[in-house]
Amino acid sequence: MDDFVWGVATSAAQIEGNAGRGVSIWDTFAQRPGVIADSSNAEVACDHVHRWADDLALLADLGVGAYRFSVAWPRIEPSAGAVNTAGLDFYDQLVDGLLARGITPVVNLFHWDLPQWLQDAGGWSDRSTAHRYASYAATVAARLGDRVGTWATLNEPFEHFVLGHVTGEHAPGLNLPLDQAFIVAHHLLLSHGLGVQALRAAGAERVMLINSYAPARPASPAEADVNAAGLYDVLQNRLFTDPVLLGAYPDELAPLLPEGDLDVIATPIDELGVNYYSINAVRAVDGPVPLEVVAPEGYPTTAFGWAVAPEGLTETLVGLRDRYGSRLPPVTVTENGCACEDSVSDGVCDDPDRIAYLDAHLGAVRTARAEGVDVRGYHVWSLYDNFEWAQGYTKRFGLAYLDYPTQRRIPKTSFAWYREVIACGLP
Ligand code: FCB
Repeated sequence: MDDFVWGVATSAAQIEGNAGRGVSIWDTFAQRPGVIADSSNAEVACDHVHRWADDLALLADLGVGAYRFSVAWPRIEPSAGAVNTAGLDFYDQLVDGLLARGITPVVNLFHWDLPQWLQDAGGWSDRSTAHRYASYAATVAARLGDRVGTWATLNEPFEHFVLGHVTGEHAPGLNLPLDQAFIVAHHLLLSHGLGVQALRAAGAERVMLINSYAPARPASPAEADVNAAGLYDVLQNRLFTDPVLLGAYPDELAPLLPEGDLDVIATPIDELGVNYYSINAVRAVDGPVPLEVVAPEGYPTTAFGWAVAPEGLTETLVGLRDRYGSRLPPVTVTENGCACEDSVSDGVCDDPDRIAYLDAHLGAVRTARAEGVDVRGYHVWSLYDNFEWAQGYTKRFGLAYLDYPTQRRIPKTSFAWYREVIACGLP
């Protein structure tokens, strides 16, 4: 794996803290009683906005070749029509710091933290948000594009669409009826396409979309569950990929989505980011959303309750190649990792379960490569523990432990393990 790029990923809303930026939908959402498991918020999070220099040192110590972070849209555009130069300066210095350490910045422009003023203007239900997004992308690219070659337009639009706009578990916490919610998916896709065009116009070398994938298994052999799993597969694994790579919505969903815009949505990309954590079991239920995702039986689970199923990563990667063939660009696994019940004892955080998880999933990547899938890199989620959305600070995914009261970053055993993998390749 000589030319293979090893990285780690974070996102702005989960690590930065809110100093110096406008209000995001996550700030507003977290104020609702009961929506965040530990009633926390991301006002401070990992205080990265003040501690970024320490975090650069941590990345350099880890030895990664790439670091994927996201830009907080509310830091760049804190209110309608305003561009915050200090916000651009923040990412500028981060990019310079990465490059000075030989780390390639991978800049993701949207990881779920829409500015609140845009939500108030209709958010992703409104078509104008996609055009606002393209203008925001152009603003960031104009500032960083001379040094940043690799860009992502969106992270996991499927999760943002479903959890944010249908089930209401994530910001902005909407419960739209499914037939109204699909317009959100369409506008997210449109923003992606317009974003690719804006980034290209600014000279971007490599542009990707980052999607999450999870093979779906019926919870039982009952026909209703088999059909529910089929529908879930189309939603999770194809709704945000078919239009981009094939220029068409999946047949099963096409009647629910607007016509047009597909030529923009299918603007060619250079790379597909694949986030993978688990497989899902799906069963049919009565209700506005006719299915429910459950943990498949017979698998060990992480502290999140997600099944540990590394073979699902191979299945995902090989499945993408089989479905999209020559239309599939090279792939990077842009997120993979697990939540563990981590704790620090005598200054040490020993996390053998995380090492076992990552090791098994790297094996799955290796298998997919051996089967001919063009996988170019792998990013662990995440550099350190952070604000895990509706789970607050209760779920720890980091290679470094975040001691929130002191803000100390304490590398876990997996940190040293990953450094070894990066330095030596897989054993
Ligand atoms: C992904 C998200 C990321 C993180 C991991 C655990 O769905 O992209 O921000 O929450 O899950």
